[in-house]
Amino acid sequence: MSETLLEVSNLNIFFKSDKNPEPIHAVRDLSFSLKQGEMLGVVGESGSGKSITNLALMGILGDNSIVKADKLHFNNRDLLTLKEQEWQKVRGGEISMIFQDPMTALNPFLTVEFQIVETILAHKKISKKEARELAIELLAQVGITSPAERLKAYPFELSGGMAQRVMIAMAISTGPKLLIADEPTTALDVTIQKQILTLIKSLQEKNNMSVILVTHDLGVVSEFSERVQVMYAGELVETAMTKKLIQHPYHPYSYGLLSSRPGAVVRAAKSDLPSIPGIVPAFHQRPTGCQFHPRCPHVQNDCISSPIALENGIRCLHPMKEEVV
Ligand SMILES: Nc1ncnc2c1ncn2[C@@H]1O[C@H](COP(=O)(O)OP(=O)(O)OP(=O)(O)O)[C@@H](O)[C@H]1O
Ligand code: SF4
Ligand SMILES: [Mg+2]
Repeated sequence: MSETLLEVSNLNIFFKSDKNPEPIHAVRDLSFSLKQGEMLGVVGESGSGKSITNLALMGILGDNSIVKADKLHFNNRDLLTLKEQEWQKVRGGEISMIFQDPMTALNPFLTVEFQIVETILAHKKISKKEARELAIELLAQVGITSPAERLKAYPFELSGGMAQRVMIAMAISTGPKLLIADEPTTALDVTIQKQILTLIKSLQEKNNMSVILVTHDLGVVSEFSERVQVMYAGELVETAMTKKLIQHPYHPYSYGLLSSRPGAVVRAAKSDLPSIPGIVPAFHQRPTGCQFHPRCPHVQNDCISSPIALENGIRCLHPMKEEVV
């Protein structure tokens, strides 16, 4: 049995703003854990709080944020009590992150060599020469041909896929225990997407690294991650082993996400449209009761009054009976 690497219990994220006297409650009572070497898929529409959760785990939410939790433990350490100096070791060292658009994450004015070597030297006590050798090794590991040549390149000389490989090389250069990949392939074309995800998966397995993979694409989750959590309006609404959730989503939102996939067939089809009308509510305009109720085809009176608890991995009073195939 592998060890628990990350344990999050009742994470709450608030944002202060001049417009509102009360801070806005963004992420609410989020609890989950991650084992060493495990990949967790996180899905949910835009604005559901996926990225701010990740930024909280990296300790890089802005000054207007308040992060509270009963537990935020990573590798047997309490992240809530870390001092900035300790954060600098964890961030980019033990926890690395790759973002949606590699071109904006890389500095356009600096060579690949400078950027990778700087990252390595910030976390490893080795010489510049050794760091350069390691950089070449890492570029080869992420599938970049002629890595020594590529070191001299500036980001604009790289294709999108190549730039994301460079970002991955930088992210793994410090031997992180956790890699957060926040929609790492959204900016890339379809054929490159698959290559990059396959690369992340192989590095996860080879390095026994844990991965949080954020994506809008349930196809990606079903292919790459063992476990999945579905976020809606800052809340975890369903979590399960991916195979199980794909077979039988219980929360109407997960069901809607799955049945709106191209090619999905809804068994025992009801009159509901297989797409989800409406949008995720803004955090300052939350509905009462179940956050999904204004969009839910199964809403009943008891859904509207009080918040719904997560029970057995499902935050719904009337879970779905149909399967999606
Ligand atoms: N610093 C901030 N101050 C106030 N509100 C913020 C701040 N950062 C994020 N938010 C709010 O949190 C919401 C959710 O953000 P988040 O980026 O986590 O969504 P997401 O699920 O990652 O969406 P996407 O799929 O589009 O990336 C944003 O729409 C924004 O309203
Ligand atoms: S609690 Fe009610 S409104 Fe919310 S998802 Fe379940 S059925 Fe729909
Ligand atoms: Mg995001």
